[in-house]
Amino acid sequence: MTASDTRAVHAGRDDLTALGVHVPPIDLSTTYPLTDLQAGGAAYDRLATGGDPAGGSLVYQRLWNPNVARLETALAELETCDGAVAFSTGMAALAAVLLATVASGKPHVVAVRPLYGGSDHLLSTGLLGTTVSWATPGTVAGELRPDTGLVLIETPANPTVELVDIADVVRQAAGVPVAVDNTFATPVLQQPAQHGATLVLHSATKYLGGHGDLMGGLVAGPAEWVARIRQMRAVTGALLYPLAAYELHRGLQTLPVRVRAQQAGAAKVADWLSTHPAVDKVYYPGLPECDPRGLVGRQQSGPGAVLAFRTSRADQLLARLELITHAVSLGGVDTLIQHPAALTHRLVAEDAKPDQDLLRISIGLEDPEDLVKDLAQALA
Ligand SMILES: Cc1ncc(COP(=O)(O)O)c(C=O)c1O
Repeated sequence: MTASDTRAVHAGRDDLTALGVHVPPIDLSTTYPLTDLQAGGAAYDRLATGGDPAGGSLVYQRLWNPNVARLETALAELETCDGAVAFSTGMAALAAVLLATVASGKPHVVAVRPLYGGSDHLLSTGLLGTTVSWATPGTVAGELRPDTGLVLIETPANPTVELVDIADVVRQAAGVPVAVDNTFATPVLQQPAQHGATLVLHSATKYLGGHGDLMGGLVAGPAEWVARIRQMRAVTGALLYPLAAYELHRGLQTLPVRVRAQQAGAAKVADWLSTHPAVDKVYYPGLPECDPRGLVGRQQSGPGAVLAFRTSRADQLLARLELITHAVSLGGVDTLIQHPAALTHRLVAEDAKPDQDLLRISIGLEDPEDLVKDLAQALA
């Protein structure tokens, strides 16, 4: 198998030379001409039940699109999964997984907090027909019920970048499918399927896109799940726009370089914050006290580029920053900072809400010295 950096550059592009092109052609067709009624109907049947075109007509964009399919092939390869299904957003990807879980007849979900606030809210409200039991990484087994159809974790988790031992959760789940939101680590640092996870989720809006200019989501997993999730997308329609799929596929080519460079910057910023008198605590998996199970190096090849910290000067800091942007989202080439309790985790139940002094920062590709200077003047 080729190295992952090489795969990131070439995955999903095997047929380009035969097509006589160097980059994937963009196909924006919403519909496709049919050669005859019988073949068209057979293609429709195949695609609407989650299958692939098998050389036949693509029929209709909601059923299949070549740019979306290329992205899915590439991400599946990077995640070492059989396949992947792309969606319009990360939340649409999670919603499809939850709807498939309800459809399986086992609507109970065991979820480990913290999760991204939107995911927490979707589960807490039960809007899609799921019920939820909240667990800690060590209590998953105790929350399982006969109707449990899914275990959901994030690692690193949003917003405190706590790490969860995937293999341990898989053991506790005792055969119940485990879905891991891999948005923060990306396949560059962690491949949850290698640790036994059934499904891997992404908000592609973050690192995979990497430039803050598109929204997307992905679910990767084994073939039978991919077919079910693709069928769910075909009937519910939350598909990724082909232009966004093209951009995301291109974004994967620079993903390893971006993630490693951003991670190097994050380590420097974390070290600096750790010594600042106005900072009470820094949360970063690269700091030994934040990784008691030694998962960096074992499960996740590096600590990543998101960190969080507590300061009683949060308001002052956000108001005074000049280079770093006060905005939600993460994973892009520029550094963003935000207040989880007031924004991304606003809808989380009071007893599970992040600390009011907590700020989350996603380190970009700027020179870390400039980031430190900006933080220093804003905290002074
Ligand atoms: C870990 C994680 N998962 C899922 C999502 C949802 O993704 P999207 O905003 O693309 O719907 C987010 C968004 O912040 C996230 O941080």
